[in-house]
Amino acid sequence: MGYSSLKTGADVYQAPRGTIDILPEEQFYWRHVEQQASDTCRLYGYGRIDTPAFESTGLFSRSIGEETDIVSKEMYSFEDKGGNRLTLRPEGTAPVCRAYIEHGMHNQPQPVKLYYLAPIFRYERPQAGRYRQHHQFGYEAIGDSDPVLDAEVIEVAWRFYEKLGLKKLKLLLNSIGCRKCRPDYLRSLKDYYGKHIDGLCKDCKVRLEQNTLRLLDCKQPQCQPLTAAAPRSADHLCPDCDEHFKLLKGYLGLLGLPFSVDHRLVRGLDYYTRTVFEIQPQTGGAQSTIGGGGRYDDLIEGLGGKPTPAVGFATGIERIILNLKKQKVSIPPLSRPQVFIAPLGERARDEAVKLAASLRQDGIGVLQAYGSRSLKAQLRQADKLGAGYAVIIGEEELANGTAVLRDMTTARQETVAMEKLSAELQSQLC
Ligand code: HAM
Repeated sequence: MGYSSLKTGADVYQAPRGTIDILPEEQFYWRHVEQQASDTCRLYGYGRIDTPAFESTGLFSRSIGEETDIVSKEMYSFEDKGGNRLTLRPEGTAPVCRAYIEHGMHNQPQPVKLYYLAPIFRYERPQAGRYRQHHQFGYEAIGDSDPVLDAEVIEVAWRFYEKLGLKKLKLLLNSIGCRKCRPDYLRSLKDYYGKHIDGLCKDCKVRLEQNTLRLLDCKQPQCQPLTAAAPRSADHLCPDCDEHFKLLKGYLGLLGLPFSVDHRLVRGLDYYTRTVFEIQPQTGGAQSTIGGGGRYDDLIEGLGGKPTPAVGFATGIERIILNLKKQKVSIPPLSRPQVFIAPLGERARDEAVKLAASLRQDGIGVLQAYGSRSLKAQLRQADKLGAGYAVIIGEEELANGTAVLRDMTTARQETVAMEKLSAELQSQLC
């Protein structure tokens, strides 16, 4: 775009629908959540991974499932100038599995534990807590089928929310079986719903043919009574899945994590096997789920890797922050520059420029006054910016090689030799 089109353009741009700007005054929430996420991950041996914002479209359609809402309606897909079909990451698990395979991580000690903090893109209908770009903290433990690992993955999520100070959460758990026992369960689900087809909503009639498991997840009132009486996956598990589920529940008990089995809990992605779980606010229901995950023992093989069991979880940072605000959890503020330099006159300004640079080199955050304003106006600005101290340099101070150090809270002032200012500030600030 040339300069002239910038000058004459009359459009007023806004952030695209369903996206938000995270302004400086909101950042302390984000930094805090991210810090707690990485601290928690460190305790359980997870290493951070960052994957590209876009991947081959096939990676997502193959892993999440063609019939899911995410793949059929919500992906931001495009063809690049080289004719490659690409998609902005609509979730984080498939890219991590792709990276696990691509980098031969099966040669490392298993399970390989990886976590990520990343923007996620889904073309959804925006509403409170639902965006077209949101951010997830997620983690994946790849390479072991032990139910202890499922329990640990759930524990990481629970302890992370606890550390953040979130309360009144509930943990919902289910097992949806494996490729051995699922077909039998799907058949009985299909039989059951087939007998009640007239009572189903329009979408469920389609689900009956295309994605039977998702019938359990329907939110339409007319489908609720039918779903409440539907066959339960937990009653159709093969002996191995049954044992896995029993052991998992036992470990969760040992860890003191309060869960309830929700026989209707399936998930919006097709790659899950055995364990599925969600964490929701006690009031609010499935629409307000703040995190979800489960086991996906067939995914890596499905993407061309060796058969590799895995389990993981992801949580939406926007929804966490929404709940932190709702619950009025206090979050530590970010530190801001504490020192404001207020020069009076041209020569003092030169001195202020040099002083600001040298204080910053000593690690002290400094705000400078710009333009030429009166002392009163400069001090007012220092106050508004929340500076703890102002350094005033006028003609007299210039002549004496000093500065006036003003405590902005008490308005107490003292004259300090310029060369002692840094040490003085450092002792006051700590
Ligand atoms: P998911 O349930 O689709 O799972 O998303 C995880 C979390 O991301 C949700 O619980 C929610 O907090 C947040 N989220 C999802 N969509 C939106 C949205 N449109 N706006 C705001 N927040 C949203 C997954 O993505 C799986 N990859 C989780 C996983 C990891 N399973 C195994 N490993």
